[in-house]
Amino acid sequence: MKILAIETSCDETAIALLEVSGELRSPTIKILGDTLLSQAKLHEAYGGVYPNLAKREHEKNLPILLEQTLKEANEAIEAPKLDFIAVTTGPGLEPALWTGITFAEGLGRKWDKPVIPVNHMEGHIYSVLASLKPGESLELPALALLISGGHTELVYVKDFGVYEMLGQTLDDAVGEAFDKVARMLGLPYPGGPEISRLAEKRRKELGREFPDAGREQASSFRLPRPMIHSKDLNFSFSGLKTAVLYKVKADNRHDDEYKQDMAQAFEDAVAEVLTKKTRQALDKYPDIRTLIVSGGVSANSFIQKQFAKLIESYPQVTLRIPERTMATDNAIMIGLAGYVRAETQPELLKSDTTLKAEGKLTLTSSRP
Ligand code: KG4
Ligand code: ZN
Repeated sequence: MKILAIETSCDETAIALLEVSGELRSPTIKILGDTLLSQAKLHEAYGGVYPNLAKREHEKNLPILLEQTLKEANEAIEAPKLDFIAVTTGPGLEPALWTGITFAEGLGRKWDKPVIPVNHMEGHIYSVLASLKPGESLELPALALLISGGHTELVYVKDFGVYEMLGQTLDDAVGEAFDKVARMLGLPYPGGPEISRLAEKRRKELGREFPDAGREQASSFRLPRPMIHSKDLNFSFSGLKTAVLYKVKADNRHDDEYKQDMAQAFEDAVAEVLTKKTRQALDKYPDIRTLIVSGGVSANSFIQKQFAKLIESYPQVTLRIPERTMATDNAIMIGLAGYVRAETQPELLKSDTTLKAEGKLTLTSSRP
């Protein structure tokens, strides 16, 4: 199936044209065109994404990216060859989501093609399909730890299109905590990559200082690990963020070494909570065959390492983390989730109901 995918849920405008065929667990994927414009620099002054600015930028960028994507794919803009259009309808910022939906529906009418709604989080789950090597397949049931700027969720993926939400954050998302802590330290937005870079530098230095320690050195101070001992699979990151705020205020230090120390202490706390909760879920669901860790924060190399270590005690489970460019928001993952939707809920391709942006859309199964 040839799919035009459109993503505008946050501050990335992205369009891709892909051709996907074969079984859901091991599809053949051809990326015919793939374009993305990040607005991160524009939102930097606000320390986060400013919805109306995002909307204006998406409206400006969408026609440009469409033209580029179709050009890359050697398709005519008047009547490109494709089967359907997949567009993110939620969760995300509603003004931003609406721009993608209106644009997709306009194209659907013009080209007489169906437009199917995609849940952004389903996109993060299936982003890992893009990195399967020949002969590999995505074995289900899977546990998906979705860690992004807006979400922190543990999802039990029983089958393609069949989900059960096991736990989620009760307050801030992990990525949001990364961004806020970065702001407290005077680092640019988005903060995740900056924190990651500083923490890595610190760990390298500690490794040089203590070459014989034989294990990773802990940071100079310890931050709280919220809810780490709770029996459920929920998360909370606002207490951790507040602990950083109080410490930064009390210490009143602005030197690089301090920032690196704080970045490391913060990453240590986050990684420990994420791996502990994931371990709890893996123990609770022994039929799990794959652990998917995806969403923007999964690009963090320290967190990736901690999950690689965790999985050593679960030989029956394969760890799948998307490539860096597939971890943060993009349109390819929306096309892949669109493929799963079209295969598991084919009636969507025949329906002509108008789509609606849903900022707080939750993962719903496409079949019983
Ligand atoms: O999935 P994503 O691109 O957008 C949402 O759906 O929210 O995730 C963006 C988030 C931001 O909070 C950003 O700071 C974080 O992912 N992020 C990282 C890293 N790269 C991006 N967090 C930690 N370490 C990274 N290397
Ligand atoms: Zn996302």
